[in-house]
Amino acid sequence: MSRLLPSTGAVTGIFEAIGFFRDPDFATKRFVEYGDIFETTLIGQRLVFIRGDEAIADLLAQGDAVEGWWPASVRQLLGSQSLANRNGSEHKARRRVVSQLFSNAALKRYTPGIVGLVDELSHELLQETKPIRLADRMRRFAFRVIATTVLGLEGSDRDVLFHDFEIWTQALFSVPIAIPGTPFTNALAARRRLLDRLREVLEQADQNRGGLDLLAGGLDEAGQPLTADDIVEQLLLLLFAGYETTASSLSCLMRACLIEPHVEPWLREELDGLEWPANGDATTAFDGLRAPRLQAVVNEVMRLTPPVGGFFRRTCRPIELANVLIPKGYVVQVALASSNRAGYSDLNEFRPERHLDGSNNPTLLPFGGGDRVCLGKALAELEIRLMVVGLLKQVQLSLAVDQDLDLQLIPSPSPKDGLKVVARHYAPDDARE
Ligand code: HEM
Repeated sequence: MSRLLPSTGAVTGIFEAIGFFRDPDFATKRFVEYGDIFETTLIGQRLVFIRGDEAIADLLAQGDAVEGWWPASVRQLLGSQSLANRNGSEHKARRRVVSQLFSNAALKRYTPGIVGLVDELSHELLQETKPIRLADRMRRFAFRVIATTVLGLEGSDRDVLFHDFEIWTQALFSVPIAIPGTPFTNALAARRRLLDRLREVLEQADQNRGGLDLLAGGLDEAGQPLTADDIVEQLLLLLFAGYETTASSLSCLMRACLIEPHVEPWLREELDGLEWPANGDATTAFDGLRAPRLQAVVNEVMRLTPPVGGFFRRTCRPIELANVLIPKGYVVQVALASSNRAGYSDLNEFRPERHLDGSNNPTLLPFGGGDRVCLGKALAELEIRLMVVGLLKQVQLSLAVDQDLDLQLIPSPSPKDGLKVVARHYAPDDARE
């Protein structure tokens, strides 16, 4: 029998919104009080939060009874043509076109470029004599990967784009009111500049060495060629989706290696047996089969600090999730971070071994699921693996003193003071002394 949807009773949602932005345990506290599904209001927006395998599996199986949804600020900054804001056949057609950028053959083509960027960063870190904010370098690396591999950009061309992206990203989860001087207005201006620049890059696609040729011949839902304006909005989405999230996982992973005493030596035992640069195809040389501990560390980062804390769907008709009735027109948020910590008593501990000894309980969905599962999953996993192996094989990091190692959570988890580190050359024998 269906149950009624439990509610916090919030009406305007102002206090709920303050709690949401300030309290990392906002959702978890309410799950404890109301169960794995509850409804609340955040500044006038009604939201149903869900966690747990049953409710999430039910949501992902809904097909066209649900559609994609993002907060108004994200919607406006991404644009109406972006596939993230489309549904049905329009969404499917664009996913088909864009997914060509992430096929196995495309990843093989990108791999040497990514290895080059990892070596460049390792070299740069070893040149520095002062503490370095590693999280900033990870952001720049992740942006460079996508700008180089997909757009074929290099040097200052790439860095100008990065600057505007940083302005744009800061307003993603802001109040979308265009008052002069606010982050949102600045982000709208940055969006216009970015689209202009991306249009130029697309026009010169045959002259650059990126992956844009893979989009050639892309068709819309009516079988017509996609317009340049349409493709440009998909590129904007890829650049955004491809760097904030990946940079967050890399910073959180390096932070875990630096603050959890057992993690780095355990991981290095495996890395010491691997070759850098890879002996053979670097696309697969460090995957879960060949480097299971690395995979377990990545999984543990995704579990405890998922880069996307939650993803959304809106109901197009009434649906049932774990026997709870959700009316039509409601927005449902899958609360990943809270889902991944529910259950056993040690689930707040960073313990990668749980992914190898079968003791991990919740299903991990850091890349979402169903019809809208992350398009860049394979690229993200590849660049994370290459960065961790390449960097740790060359560099020994230690934490600089006097810094806040807590995480800020919005838009994606990242150490508050940027993870200040000192780097020195790594030699396996030094580490064992
Ligand atoms: C660790 C890195 C990443 C994580 C954790 C991540 C996570 C996610 C999540 C949770 C979603 C929403 C899925 C859903 O609604 O079910 C998503 C969507 C998406 N991601 Fe990623 N992502 C990452 C990296 C990337 C990269 C590198 C790219 C491309 C360069 C990318 C492109 C996209 C796109 C285009 C979508 C929209 C898919 C759609 O609406 O159909 N992501 N990602």
